[in-house]
Amino acid sequence: MSVEIFPDPRAVTTAAVEAVVESAARAIDAAGRFLVALSGGSTPRAVFQQLAAPGYGDRIEWEAVHVFWGDERCVPPSDPSSNFAMATETLLNHVEARPGHVHRIRGEDDPESAAGAYERLLRRAFTTPEGPPRLDAGSRFDLILLGMGEDGHTASVFPGSPAVRETQRWVMPTESPLPPRRRVTLTPPLINAAAEKLFLVTGEAKSAVLARVLQGPTDPDILPAQAIQDARWLLDADVASRLES
Ligand code: 6PG
Repeated sequence: MSVEIFPDPRAVTTAAVEAVVESAARAIDAAGRFLVALSGGSTPRAVFQQLAAPGYGDRIEWEAVHVFWGDERCVPPSDPSSNFAMATETLLNHVEARPGHVHRIRGEDDPESAAGAYERLLRRAFTTPEGPPRLDAGSRFDLILLGMGEDGHTASVFPGSPAVRETQRWVMPTESPLPPRRRVTLTPPLINAAAEKLFLVTGEAKSAVLARVLQGPTDPDILPAQAIQDARWLLDADVASRLES
């Protein structure tokens, strides 16, 4: 795990954008493609907007980028609370990602069928000439962007959710305590298999839970963000204010 603290959310955004650009360049140089899973919420919004801006987005070979989501609300893709809708409005409408390389979770479908369909899509995406996808053998995302809620959730893995301890499924339906309640989420095994996990967390309101997640007792059923190992945390000074140096 690495923790980097920046003066303010704007500096976190710029560091996150640079991390995405560098991760994309590494993956495309190594394998000719970049498999990235985006998060929802308000924090990544600024990252997507800056990624779409000249001088940033044009540093990514978008034709080699495959866009996925770490979770989705079970709403239609046109719904303002859809993570797909937010990323489309802020980023995908402004860069040359190929439509066939943008793989949304079908929030309009029944959650179980949407989760099953997405898992099958991911298993196809991760299948290589070496054989069927195996999380322990390189079947993975190059980068997963993650946020953390004030309750310590990440993606749509919420406290007390069966998804915290899931070991087999890569994608599953979950329930959020906040609306939209029905969600579909990647599970910790799939998230942990990613080459890079990048948490973006800012704001004093999350400072207490962040200190518990990073420095308190380990109990992912209560603090699901603790189920994610070896992540890189980009924090602003406010959210990091309760961390022991
Ligand atoms: C979602 C996200 C969720 C988000 C956290 C933090 O679908 O909402 O995947 O995990 O990252 O709730 O959200 P903020 O960045 O808005 O605080």
